[in-house]
Amino acid sequence: MDSNNNVTPFIQSKIGKNLHLQKGNPIGQMKKMIEEYFTQNHGFSVYDNLPPTVTTIQNFDDLLTPLDHVSRSPSDTYYISKTHLLRSHMTAHQTELIRSGATSFLMAGDVYRRDEVDATHYPVFHQIDGVKLWDSSVDSSVIMEDLKKSLGGMIQTIFGNVEMRWIDAYFPFTEPSLELEILFEGRWLEVLGCGQIQPAILSCCAKEGTTGWAFGIGLERLAMVLYDIPDIRLFWSDDERFLSQFSSGKPVKFKPFSKYPPCYKDITFWLPESGFHENDLNSIIREIAGDLVESVQKIDSFTHPKSGHISNCFRINYRHMSRSLTNTEVDSLQEQVRSELISKLGIVLR
Ligand code: PHE
Repeated sequence: MDSNNNVTPFIQSKIGKNLHLQKGNPIGQMKKMIEEYFTQNHGFSVYDNLPPTVTTIQNFDDLLTPLDHVSRSPSDTYYISKTHLLRSHMTAHQTELIRSGATSFLMAGDVYRRDEVDATHYPVFHQIDGVKLWDSSVDSSVIMEDLKKSLGGMIQTIFGNVEMRWIDAYFPFTEPSLELEILFEGRWLEVLGCGQIQPAILSCCAKEGTTGWAFGIGLERLAMVLYDIPDIRLFWSDDERFLSQFSSGKPVKFKPFSKYPPCYKDITFWLPESGFHENDLNSIIREIAGDLVESVQKIDSFTHPKSGHISNCFRINYRHMSRSLTNTEVDSLQEQVRSELISKLGIVLR
């Protein structure tokens, strides 16, 4: 296997599931709502079947991502080889589609990121990106106004009358860049990023004198808010008590079925001198526990006053989505976690 490959079997098993194409899945329904809004009112075309393996050029270089940007690091991104990876955003397809002549279009699909383990993060999730090109004689302010109006309209179509606010943001591929937040149950939630496409990107893939806007929106976060879904693992569940609730195709509020009891285990260890990244720990735990792990949280860190060695304590919360876990099961998972953290990361248990 290629030494740059950090795609684990758990991640591999998610490729091709395409929750965004499943009609009964809330992710499929979010995609349908956004798609209807942009195809019916704005004449967009839709690409929802683009394979998730792309090149570093597509995912980063063509989008002007600096060479030292964290998103390029193997602790953030799943690499297949030095040159190929599982796309970390749908924006990876922007330049190829513009080059092929598309001028207003959506790209929907699964994206992959190494990240925390908790109720709102999962290493595979779904995004829709949108692009609309213009003649560059159009003023930037006109483009940004159209962008805000289109995206504000989309959010209102989905959520009805919610409070929204625009925040200045940074993305390597847009300037100016904005984020949209919505007020949900008293908290401001970031739902999308957008902006005017950098001229240096368009000069490589569009006909001369083209400008335009682009946005990217995550579907899991939206669905969790719209349907009151408390845990991101539910989208992957084949539990009928989950999926049957959405089969009518109409927006409903999720009726939680009983949560089975959680069981947490702490693990305390000295970090290896060779370096340590939390996402490596997260991957190992995911690989062993799959969807039985609900969250991994650092609860303590301490530096030995004399030796300078660093000790961390992590709390791993195990919970099955559709039955109780037995003590024997949890003990066996925890035992595997302990031994793999020692053998793969070189940690020293305390
Ligand atoms: N690709 C960005 C992300 O994943 C979102 C985005 C898309 C922002 C297009 C601006 C323009 O966060």
